[in-house]
Amino acid sequence: MDSFLIRGPCRLRGEVAVSGAKNAMLPLMAASILTGGLCTLENIPGLRDTRTMMKLLDVLGVSSILEDGILTIDASGVSSFEAPYDLVRTMRASIYVLGPLVARYGRARVSMPGGCAWGPRPVDLHLKGLKALGADIRIDHGYIDARAERLHGTEIVLSVPSVGATVNIIMAAVLADGRTVIENAAREPEITELAMALKTGGADIEGEGTSRITIEGVQEIEPFSHRVIPDRIETGTFAAAAVLTGGAVEIVNCRPDHVLAVIDKLASCGAKIEATESTLRVTGPERPEPVDIGTGFYPAFPTDMQAQMMAVLCLARGSSTIVEHVYPDRFTHVPELRRLGARIHVDGSVAVVTGVDRLEGAPLMATDIRASSALILAGLVAEGESKILRIYHIDRGYECIEDKFVKLGADIRRIKE
Ligand code: EPZ
Repeated sequence: MDSFLIRGPCRLRGEVAVSGAKNAMLPLMAASILTGGLCTLENIPGLRDTRTMMKLLDVLGVSSILEDGILTIDASGVSSFEAPYDLVRTMRASIYVLGPLVARYGRARVSMPGGCAWGPRPVDLHLKGLKALGADIRIDHGYIDARAERLHGTEIVLSVPSVGATVNIIMAAVLADGRTVIENAAREPEITELAMALKTGGADIEGEGTSRITIEGVQEIEPFSHRVIPDRIETGTFAAAAVLTGGAVEIVNCRPDHVLAVIDKLASCGAKIEATESTLRVTGPERPEPVDIGTGFYPAFPTDMQAQMMAVLCLARGSSTIVEHVYPDRFTHVPELRRLGARIHVDGSVAVVTGVDRLEGAPLMATDIRASSALILAGLVAEGESKILRIYHIDRGYECIEDKFVKLGADIRRIKE
């Protein structure tokens, strides 16, 4: 298993380009199943999750080729309807093939995704939505077995604006008979992108990006081409790194309008932030000011930036409170940050971070994509050497992250083991 060796402290300076968004790419790859033809996706990041989803599509009989960031998917037919456990357990988003398979082929057998590093990740809303559309859902030996003669439109109210459930329901409803209304739908940009791509394929969708999405079922979805938006969490991660290191970083090929809540909090930390439509210039303060954070559903402060923000606040001039409203247990990064000398008290879904003057390098363990990126940030400012183990977690969600940090002046290198 590879690891990262980081020597700090450093101040990041220079320009970094953001890659395509993992969480926009994955639904779009699954949506190709609906089309029965050749789909093209541009600005595809070279991630482990990209390769995992390509492997899953291949298992279903949907071949794909990735060249220079362009993914061509041949979804002309499927030879299997089963998403096996050994793939699903490595990437929860594998469940995104459920909706399209049931919608186009009337059947799917998808392993129940397990939990993840920080706790349970239920899929009850996915299944509730598909049942409401007329699918017969059974859990059989750890697999979701879904069948449907024909899906029919319906009204679905989500108890939680779940990204995954909204994605699966949209992909099932576009080929259903009649109208589907999703109330309390997720509003993430990734949902808007999925709807835009499906509409170029002839889908009839309105309200994407709002909490009420209306879908009129159509007979078929034509193959589509779509350019994946920049990754808003990668954007936030580099912005946080600039603030934590007191550096000056120009983030290009990004969408500042997708990270407004993050910009707001980093500005409260004392950062100077200038935005254009596709660039973000972040100049960090000498030392971050403490701020209180509550994660929430988009457009609120994203849970996927909570760990990175905690790393910033470890060196703040005072105490900060972080409340996790989305995943109450999402604090696996806390024991690792403490190993560097951070002072963090966790009580349930609330973490209180008391800023310290310095962090000291130490060996660290990556646990999940975003927690791992927080450890990189902390390693950049810790004095001395930090070694982050199990960085396959990071490779799932960040493309060549060490190369991007080296370009910004960081002393970080990958140790192949
Ligand atoms: C997506 O996961 C993202 N993953 C996650 O990013 C992100 O943390 C999460 O949304 C929240 O923003 C992808 O887009 C591939 P949810 P998802 O369904 O869809 C509850 C990363 O690092 N819930 O929006 O699984 C759930 O417990 C990953 O890129 C149910 O109760 O998240 C949580 O409290 C980590 N029942 C809330 O909804 C369900 O059926 C949000 O979950 C589904 C979800």
